[in-house]
Amino acid sequence: MNYRPFGKHGFDCSEIGFGAWAIGGSWGPQSDADSLAALHRALDLGCTFIDTAAGYGDGRSEKLIGQVLRERAEAGKGGRVFVATKTPPAPGDWPPSPYCKADERYSEAYLRDNVATRLANLGASKIDLLQLHTWTRAWNRNPTPFRVLRQLQREGKLGLIGISTPEHDQNSVIDLMRGGWVDSVQVIYNLFEQEPAAELLDVAKECGVGVIVRVAFDEGVLTGKFTADTKFAPDDFRGRYFQGDRLLRALARVEEIRKDLEGTGYSMPQAALKFVLAHPAVSTVIPGIRNVAQAEANCGVSDLPNLPEALHLKLRRHAWRRAFWYGGK
Ligand SMILES: NC(=O)c1ccc[n+]([C@@H]2O[C@H](COP(=O)([O-])OP(=O)(O)OC[C@H]3O[C@@H](n4cnc5c(N)ncnc54)[C@H](OP(=O)(O)O)[C@@H]3O)[C@@H](O)[C@H]2O)c1
Repeated sequence: MNYRPFGKHGFDCSEIGFGAWAIGGSWGPQSDADSLAALHRALDLGCTFIDTAAGYGDGRSEKLIGQVLRERAEAGKGGRVFVATKTPPAPGDWPPSPYCKADERYSEAYLRDNVATRLANLGASKIDLLQLHTWTRAWNRNPTPFRVLRQLQREGKLGLIGISTPEHDQNSVIDLMRGGWVDSVQVIYNLFEQEPAAELLDVAKECGVGVIVRVAFDEGVLTGKFTADTKFAPDDFRGRYFQGDRLLRALARVEEIRKDLEGTGYSMPQAALKFVLAHPAVSTVIPGIRNVAQAEANCGVSDLPNLPEALHLKLRRHAWRRAFWYGGK
């Protein structure tokens, strides 16, 4: 496993992190035994960064992580693991509309209460990184929630403070980075969604902001294992994500990527992760991991050779901007 600086924050993190959404829920049947084994295996393989959220099974994911860290401490496997979690806005529009008020969706009382629950679920006295789970550009001029979070930081409850981008307006975090409001950003960046390479990632690097890349597999389709016959469990959110003609349209593009990879020695999941890691601003990529096999496959990618430059340049052609001009489901 290779390690990279987390922005300017004085520590290195594993370049493959653990995306802990599916172990919480909303991805079809998932046993806690599989989740615990996956977490242990990833940490055994040198993973030192875990991303979770309040919303991943209403604390289920956080509690499993807390359990694993306690088990490892008791077993003397005490290596430092950095845990990032997220606080969602108080109930209302998701993502927040331009008319929502920051002081209502992320009020001081709400943030204090929410952080206390995160600490209890993780069984920790301090959260390594607390990320606001979504945002609206409307709050950039007066980002009051971050003043509250800096206060919680001074009180010792939080280590670093970050934000996870709203999908429809990822660049809204650029002003927050330039203004010094956030220590890290979590961003969608993958073979399809390459827009962060236009500016966001460079600004992060310039400002010393840690970059966590999520959804490197575009919710699984970029692993190349889905087919037109793939069916998702009723409680798997991907039934909605890939509804209508979305799965078929994505699969057609995946076949083009597969052609580019023929004879290169890289599998689809390996190429998807290496493509993300090729950007120097990226601190860690957090593929979703829900079993031991995925922990091994994904952690193993770090030690593979980097994509040859010619292949990396070739793969850029798969950029796919969605949701323009009534783009269909
Ligand atoms: N708004 C936000 O802040 C936000 C939103 C989304 C995600 N995230 C974070 O980012 C993490 C990653 O995103 P994601 O989990 O949504 O999607 P992802 O990483 O694009 O896809 C993860 C899924 O791909 C499959 N997979 C993983 N490794 C594989 C491998 N080596 N070979 C074949 N299939 C593999 C697994 O699904 P199956 O086993 O079911 O096939 C896994 O659940 C999340 O876990 C979460 O921590 C944050």
